[in-house]
Amino acid sequence: MNFRALLVLTAAFALSAAQQTQNPPTTPPPQPPAGAANGPQPGPAVKAPGPGQRTGEAVHGQQPSPAGGMADFLAIGPPADPEAAARGQKLFVANCAFCHGTNANGGNGGPDLVRSLVVLHDKGTGAEIGPVVHNGRPGKGMPPFPSLTDAQIHDIAQFLKQRHQAASNRMAYQIQNIVTGDPKAGEAYFNAHCASCHSATGDLAHIATKISDPVQLQQRFLYPKEEHYPGMPGPPPDPRAERTVSVKLPDGQSYTGKLDHIDDFSVALTDASGQHHSWLLDQTPGIQVEVHDPLAAHAKLLTEYTNADMHNILAYLETLK
Ligand code: HEC
Ligand code: HEC
Repeated sequence: MNFRALLVLTAAFALSAAQQTQNPPTTPPPQPPAGAANGPQPGPAVKAPGPGQRTGEAVHGQQPSPAGGMADFLAIGPPADPEAAARGQKLFVANCAFCHGTNANGGNGGPDLVRSLVVLHDKGTGAEIGPVVHNGRPGKGMPPFPSLTDAQIHDIAQFLKQRHQAASNRMAYQIQNIVTGDPKAGEAYFNAHCASCHSATGDLAHIATKISDPVQLQQRFLYPKEEHYPGMPGPPPDPRAERTVSVKLPDGQSYTGKLDHIDDFSVALTDASGQHHSWLLDQTPGIQVEVHDPLAAHAKLLTEYTNADMHNILAYLETLK
């Protein structure tokens, strides 16, 4: 199909959607896709769609958003459901970001999913990415995730769709409806769970100006793991995020420093004077190794946030302009 034909088709689609708004369809509303049944439940902060119109797909034409016309023009479809995308983001950060990057645009060994054809064709349903996620691609570095449910995969699909739309149409989707939380509640959560390490007037002052894309800001506080690998260009990891280690030997000598490497067999560190030390664990009986990960608190919080917490924290951080 050539580009012109595609545009005409898209325009026709946009038109029929607009007509639907004026004359409510007499046919039953479309069913949510498989797996969505216990999936997206719009929270109170989101305008409640009509019955049977739960998914981002089905909302099309019903609630023309300012982005709608542009979205139709670009043929990137109706906006992702922000609630589902937020849940999906959390799952993605915990399970997939290690390889695909926290923004899904590629990372340590996993391809860019924002520009993936599989994801493009999936359109936020989970139907295309589901089999890849459940079965993996054995032999190609993509592990299977058999225990993720269809509803969870649908949420991840909505998150990927959101990333795709943000990349396709930066202006219209920038602010999306992801900033739906209550900043006061977010501030209370911040004071209870974050203020031991951060300050709104200190290290996080102007954080929403520094990271102006709310989706990225959300990513950053969910799990601010630096995507920096040896040899990669770009700034070195923030020293505050660096893992350190203490090693105590049976003879009482001890060493502390930056953790260079640890696995089941060995541990290596660089001490304050820049000197490297390493030990083979099975050849050093009685060795005590203690790793300190400054981001452990973030990893733990990741399992504790409710959807509401995530929205409220983001809404609060967005006030730190
Ligand atoms: C250990 C690294 C790793 C993890 C973790 C991982 N992936 Fe992948 N993924 C890969 C690699 C490598 C490929 C490319 C495989 C190939 O070449 O066919 C891939 C491919 C994919 C593809 C197909 C992309 C395309 O265009 O063909 C999708 C979709 C995908 N991954 C989604 C996910 C999701 C969702 C998760 C988390 C639930 C995840 N992956 C976790 C490494 C990973
Ligand atoms: C135990 C300490 C600790 C706690 C608790 C903690 N963080 Fe962090 N946080 C860190 C460290 C360490 C970093 C990485 C260094 C950095 O980027 O400032 C970080 C990074 C961040 C960043 C990225 C900052 C930047 O400049 O890119 C944000 C945003 C953030 N945390 C928000 C939060 C929020 C919100 C909470 C509570 C829900 C929280 N943190 C709880 C230690 C903590």
